[in-house]
Amino acid sequence: MADTSADVVIVGGGLIGLATAWRLARDGVRVVVADPTPGEQTSSVAAGMLAPVTEVEYGEDDLLALNLAGVAAWPAFAADLEHATGLPSGLYASGTLSVAYDADDAAAIRRLAEYQRRLGLDVVELTGREARKREPLLAVGVSAGMWVPNDHSVDNRRAVTALLAATEAAGVQLVRRTVARVVVDGQRASGIELAGGEVIRAETVVVAAGPWSAQIDGIPDELRPPVRPLKGEILRLRVPEAYRPALQHTVRATARGFAVYLVPRPDGELVVGATSTELGYDTRVLAGGVFSLLRDARMVLPITDELELVEAVAGLRPTTPDNAPILGPAGIDGLLWATGHYRNGVLLSPITAGLIAQTVLTGTVPDLAKPFLAERFRTAPRAS
Ligand code: GLY
Repeated sequence: MADTSADVVIVGGGLIGLATAWRLARDGVRVVVADPTPGEQTSSVAAGMLAPVTEVEYGEDDLLALNLAGVAAWPAFAADLEHATGLPSGLYASGTLSVAYDADDAAAIRRLAEYQRRLGLDVVELTGREARKREPLLAVGVSAGMWVPNDHSVDNRRAVTALLAATEAAGVQLVRRTVARVVVDGQRASGIELAGGEVIRAETVVVAAGPWSAQIDGIPDELRPPVRPLKGEILRLRVPEAYRPALQHTVRATARGFAVYLVPRPDGELVVGATSTELGYDTRVLAGGVFSLLRDARMVLPITDELELVEAVAGLRPTTPDNAPILGPAGIDGLLWATGHYRNGVLLSPITAGLIAQTVLTGTVPDLAKPFLAERFRTAPRAS
C-alpha cells in the first residue's frame, strides 16, 4: 500500500523520472514514483548515445546548449551513482566516429562538420584510411570520417538498474501501479489517483511519462503537452570473443544516404539503431526495420554477419513539435513537466533531474530550462 502523501509525486519511472526522484530525495524531499513498469519502456530500448555533437541539427541552438550541458553532467552523475550503489552506471567514454560510405555520404558529413566547427564544436575530419586506423574492422569502402571526441554512450539498462537501487536506498517510494489521473483541485494539482482509487496527495506532481505524457487524465486539455510517440527499432547483437572488440567507439554511419549507428558496450554487446516511424503506440518489430538496420550496418561493418542477433526491440521516443523537451511549470500550480526528450532521454536524464529539482526547491526555473517551458507551444491570443 502506498503512502498517502508525499512532497513530490512523479508520474513515470523511466530514466528521467528516476533520476529526478533520486536528485530530490538526496535533498531531503519525500518522493513517490508511480509507474506499473519502471524502466521497462522507452528507457530500456535506447542505444544510450550521448551525442550532442553528432546529432546536432541545423538551427537548434538552445537544444544544443542543453545537450552539451547534458553530456557534461554525466561523469559526476555516474560517479555518484556508482558510489551510492556499488553498481556500474553504464557510462562508456568512448568518443564517436562518424563515417561515410560513398561520395555523396562523404559530402554530407563534410557539410555537417563545417556547421559543427562554426558552432565551435570539437570535430576532426578523417580520410577513410584514417577512420579505419581507429576502427580496423570498418569496411574498405568507408570513404571518409569524422572523429568526435566528446560524444559518448551509456548502457541505458545498466543505468536503469543502478537508478532503481539508488532511489530505493535514498528512500524514494516506488509504486508499481498505473496512474488513473492527476488530481486537480481548482487551479492546483494536488496529487494523483491510482487505478483502483487510492489517492496520493503531494505538493508537487511531476509528469515524466515520456510518450504517454499527454494521455494522463485529470490534466486540463489546454495544458496537455504536444508529445507524441515516434517508434524506433533497435537490434542487440553479441560479438563472439574471437572478434572483440569489434568496435571501440560509437560509430555513426551514413551509408548510401541511410543513417545507422553502432554502439559497442564493453561487455561485448553491440547495439544497432535505429528506425524512425510514425506509427502511434505500435511497438511491433517489423521485418523491414530489422532488414534495413542489418543492411546498413553490414555495409560499414561487414563482420556484422558473424554476430549473434540477441534481441530486436521497438521503443517509443517522446517527441515534440520542435524536437526539444518540455521542462518546468505546466500552467497550473503544483504541476511540472519533465517530458518530450525525443532522442535525448539518456543524455538529458542527469541535467533534467537537476533542473527540475531546482525548480521544485526554489520555485524558480533555472535559465538553462527557460527555452523549454511548455508555454512556447501555446498560441498567443489574437489581437482584436
Ligand atoms: N538518439 C538515437 C535515437 O533516437 O535513435
